[in-house]
Amino acid sequence: MRASGTKRTRAVPTTLSARLTGQVELETNASGEIVASVEGYLENLGKFSARAVERAQGLRSGLLLGSFEPDGTDTDKEVHLLVRRLARRGLVEYRLGRTSKGDGDVVIEPQVPSYWPRTPSLASDDVLVLSRFAYMRQRAGRLVLESPRAGALFKICDPRIAAALAVLCAPQPIKRLRRRADFPGLDLLALLVDSQILFKIDTADGKTLRAAEGNENLVVWDFHDLLFHTRSTEGRHANPIGGLYPHLGITPPPAVRPPWPGEKLSLRRFSTEAASPAADLLRARRSIRDFDDERPITLAELARFLDRTARIQSTWSSRLDLGGDGQGDGPMLMYTVRPYPSGGSSYELELYLAVDKCEGLERGFYHYDAGDHALAPIGARTAELDAMLNGAEFAMGAPAPPQVLITMAARFGRTSWKYSSIAYSLILKDVGVLLQTFYLMATDMELGGCAIGTTNIDLFAKMIGTELHAEGPVGQFALGRPRTQR
Ligand SMILES: Cc1cc2nc3c(=O)[nH]c(=O)nc-3n(C[C@H](O)[C@H](O)[C@H](O)COP(=O)(O)O)c2cc1C
Repeated sequence: MRASGTKRTRAVPTTLSARLTGQVELETNASGEIVASVEGYLENLGKFSARAVERAQGLRSGLLLGSFEPDGTDTDKEVHLLVRRLARRGLVEYRLGRTSKGDGDVVIEPQVPSYWPRTPSLASDDVLVLSRFAYMRQRAGRLVLESPRAGALFKICDPRIAAALAVLCAPQPIKRLRRRADFPGLDLLALLVDSQILFKIDTADGKTLRAAEGNENLVVWDFHDLLFHTRSTEGRHANPIGGLYPHLGITPPPAVRPPWPGEKLSLRRFSTEAASPAADLLRARRSIRDFDDERPITLAELARFLDRTARIQSTWSSRLDLGGDGQGDGPMLMYTVRPYPSGGSSYELELYLAVDKCEGLERGFYHYDAGDHALAPIGARTAELDAMLNGAEFAMGAPAPPQVLITMAARFGRTSWKYSSIAYSLILKDVGVLLQTFYLMATDMELGGCAIGTTNIDLFAKMIGTELHAEGPVGQFALGRPRTQR
């Protein structure tokens, strides 16, 4: 007899298998190394025994995860290592079925290199509910279940599973779900809990569903804002990213809008040639991607640049006026004054400096304390610092990393505490404002700089050791001494 409320999931679901994604071929080279070939690109996965190579052939149709546990035979360990290496490169997906053969009910597509399917223990009395960030949509004629919080997306191949999961929009004890004819299985529920698409709640604590999921840093996020943030940056999805020209079949819109019909009022006669210093600065501004590494920017220049663009000039406070709806006065709020404008005076952008070359300042990662006008070193790993600087070099198509890479990281809650629906878009507008402030000051100081459109939010979260929804990168600016100046 089974004790009630103590049913546990199996360590590895018996019908969960790993298989190569569609375009991957495994080959063995003359030195016995396994090489994955992906659309002409080769990835060396290392040397493996003949037995492991033979077992690896099974990855085309699918190898049960339970058949190569890391604590099994030597060949099991090797196959486990191989699948882990393939997984880190995004070359495997996982199939979950009610039986160990066939197409499967669900196919799990990893979105981050570190994803590995795990099945946390679930008890019959546990109460589960869908995350408010989870959503289903049609993709290439298939139904996919995703969340900006999940490390994987779930392709739902059996529509009955979609219907069964829809019931979880309201909290459901597992024991009640098990009584349903369409119960999707404990393994799938555990995999979804692991991916934060479902979460366990304590029904006794009286919290709203929104408050019950995550902490105060998560509660302030609107659904569309977190989705936008995670899908329009690098690090949390496996979609193509950047200037890939995905719509070459369509004629691009012209660089200049075709004129409106009718007579125009010319403004030319008002434009005198006598320019102002501000107009000169705007006209002189250009993006600079190539820096003079023999004469890098100095600490004094960097200090002046930060002082003039981002330093807090003063602070002020004001009691929140909640208006005439009987709610009375709100809390006392503190604000800052800085050289650039910010939506709602939120000033949510923090500056983090990845320093490659700066005379008088050690290579490293720093936070700019805008109140104290000081740099605080952050002990990021060298590999992470290199990855961040190399990412900027790649994004600029530059010959070398920037001397200083400024990352603008938003303390999201500072804006979303106040604004519904528009918080993330306001933050991106603030980024635009600060970027132009940086461009103009760099030009004025005869330094060079360039905005960078992509950032890896996962890498940054590791570097500062913070949840990615608490404080995260929303923009970058490369800074240094232009090579052309000599
Ligand atoms: C939001 C934004 C993102 C940008 N991202 C990149 C980038 O990732 N790589 C790059 O080389 N230039 C980037 N740029 C610079 C533009 O390519 C540049 O501003 C544009 O080509 C006009 O040239 P100019 O700045 O020299 O006038 C970006 C500019 C902006 C405003």
